[in-house]
Amino acid sequence: MTEQTPARVAVVGCGYWGRNLVRNFSDLGALAAVCDSDRELARQSGGQYNVRTCTFEEVIRDANIDAVAVATPVETHSEIVRKVLLAGKHVFVEKPLAMDVGAAEDLNRLSKNQARVLMVGHVLQYHPAFIRLKELVAQGELGRLRNIYAHRSNLGKVRREENILWSFVPHDASMILSLVGDEPDRISAVGGFFLHSRYADVAAIYLSFPGGENAHVFVSWLHPYKVQELVVVGDEGMAIFNDTQEWDRKLLIYKDDLLCKNGLHGPGKAEAEAVTVTPVEPLRQELEHFLDCIAGRTGCRTDGREAIRVLKVLQASEQEIRGNHSYQAINNANPALNKTAIVDLRAQQQRLGGKIPQAIQKILDHGQYIMGPEVRELEERLSDFTGAGHVITCASGTDALLMALMTHDTGPGDAIFVPSFTFVATAEVVALLGATPVFVDVDADCFLLDMASLKAAVSESVRHGLRPRGIIPVDLFGQPADYSGINRFAEERGLFVICDGAQSFGAELDGNKVGTLGELTTTSFFPAKPLGCYGDGGAVFTDDDEIADKLKSTRAHGKGANQHDAVNIGINGRLDTIQAAILIEKLSVFPEEIILRKQVAQSYTSMLENLVDVPVVREGRTSVWAQYTVKSNERDAISEELKKNGFPTALHYPIPLHRQTAYRGYPSAPDLSVSERLAATVLSLPMHPYLEEGTQNRICDIIRQAL
Ligand SMILES: Cc1ncc(COP(=O)(O)O)c(C=O)c1O
Repeated sequence: MTEQTPARVAVVGCGYWGRNLVRNFSDLGALAAVCDSDRELARQSGGQYNVRTCTFEEVIRDANIDAVAVATPVETHSEIVRKVLLAGKHVFVEKPLAMDVGAAEDLNRLSKNQARVLMVGHVLQYHPAFIRLKELVAQGELGRLRNIYAHRSNLGKVRREENILWSFVPHDASMILSLVGDEPDRISAVGGFFLHSRYADVAAIYLSFPGGENAHVFVSWLHPYKVQELVVVGDEGMAIFNDTQEWDRKLLIYKDDLLCKNGLHGPGKAEAEAVTVTPVEPLRQELEHFLDCIAGRTGCRTDGREAIRVLKVLQASEQEIRGNHSYQAINNANPALNKTAIVDLRAQQQRLGGKIPQAIQKILDHGQYIMGPEVRELEERLSDFTGAGHVITCASGTDALLMALMTHDTGPGDAIFVPSFTFVATAEVVALLGATPVFVDVDADCFLLDMASLKAAVSESVRHGLRPRGIIPVDLFGQPADYSGINRFAEERGLFVICDGAQSFGAELDGNKVGTLGELTTTSFFPAKPLGCYGDGGAVFTDDDEIADKLKSTRAHGKGANQHDAVNIGINGRLDTIQAAILIEKLSVFPEEIILRKQVAQSYTSMLENLVDVPVVREGRTSVWAQYTVKSNERDAISEELKKNGFPTALHYPIPLHRQTAYRGYPSAPDLSVSERLAATVLSLPMHPYLEEGTQNRICDIIRQAL
């Protein structure tokens, strides 16, 4: 540490272990506040170290607190860490970081995005004896690493919130991975259930590594005395780190010619040599390292990535113990067996925990499956989120477009201008109403409606004897179209505009959200969309009271005030209550998911920009990255190679609308060459907020190889 003032740290959770954090941060001159759900405990702790006591919300709001150290029950870690990072503070959290790999990846990404330190309390990595052991291994003192055995047992507190794996194994897994410097490619594990039928209290884990090293970990709560031993076997010597010994015997090394003849361990009995280590409290070293990381003096030894590696071992061991052999699936390093999806809805489901089943159960209890209270609640929340005056949810993005066109009484003789490079629904609804879709080209960089082509298409429609009525620009792949230009042109020509925001919900143009960029906006909640439900769903957004009333009537068979008297021709276009409830839950994490999507897109772009044409987001806009779509003349080779390695891709869209069988007869702008070219070169890569960094790296490596 230098003389620079240390960061101001609040400790959240000052009980059994947290009190040690409080003491050490106080000694390091960094303790700013303490917090515990047990107010009396917090008050005592604050009094002892002469710092203030506050609530967690106060910690989060306090701009004078730079960092938070978390020592709360394990199941609360991920939520607390998330809130701390979102508040822009650095965070130290006791192990394990989270209860599953997906949640840990999420937090790691968030910490990077927020440019804040995320450090996990794998305290033995800061133990002077382990640090010395690691140096000896790195210097080759033991020769080539062969085996590592870890034994950690204690007749301890019987825990019910976690099993032995989550309590003890993080220490050993962290030390083993750090000694080997790699991740295992095979894990097997067995557990013993003596005190409880669901929580293992004894576990034995076997790990094997690509370099040929093996490791065994034995952990138990059923042991008469404390054992904390790590044995490292190399082909030229062995070392034992035994933390229950006095400092002068904590690290022993065995080197004997007889013992290690020709690289083989003989039956001889070697003399132990004690290795000198300076006694320092590991926790103090750990917390000092945290403060150094915050000050930018060093990189973090036990950061989010290290926590993820450790959690993969824990999660795989747990699943092995339960009888599901899954390490390869968890560890995407093995591409042949990985299960990467283009859009991974399961990761999000895990993240939301039991919230969706609970929300569905609520509807099963109240029984209002059609237009239940959740529909209204969702509409209010969507209105708050976008700033649109009215939100009318409906049964799909296609119905949203249809209803929007119906409010303008679209029909035969009307020309509606739509991009040729889009999903078919945009044109389909026009044709369904007997109007004429007229195809317009898009620009090559952003895939959005091209103004010059739009003007040419309007002239073309007049030449065909049609009445130019409206434009449906599409916010393709997640970024808004050029609405200032389009709205101005529409006004000059007396055309209506329906913004097809099926792919862009959540995006912005000049600080305004999709939903407010034109008179009428539609969106889709199809499951794979940035905000998706678990079936079909959609919505229309408008500020116009009259249009909103008409939309509400249209979605319910054209009903008026008297529900038996249809005042408009309508459709059955209502959103199911169950889908509304699912969307309410998903909307709660959506703002953060937008950040994560952006991060995934940025990292694709940084890895791929010299290999393929990467997507471009225009100045003043944000994208919600419904797709990450690249362009390449080699797209078939790339897609084939990715498929071989277990990574799916998709073509959005391989045939422009004006070339599709049902639409060939409709008029179009004279030149649609960009749409045609795009159809032949685009390729969409896996894209969702929970896409792992390792998977992305692998995808980009394969693309590099394919080229
Ligand atoms: C641009 C566009 N418009 C409209 C739709 C139709 O939405 P839905 O599938 O919800 O009917 C989609 C859906 O894929 C779309 O991408």
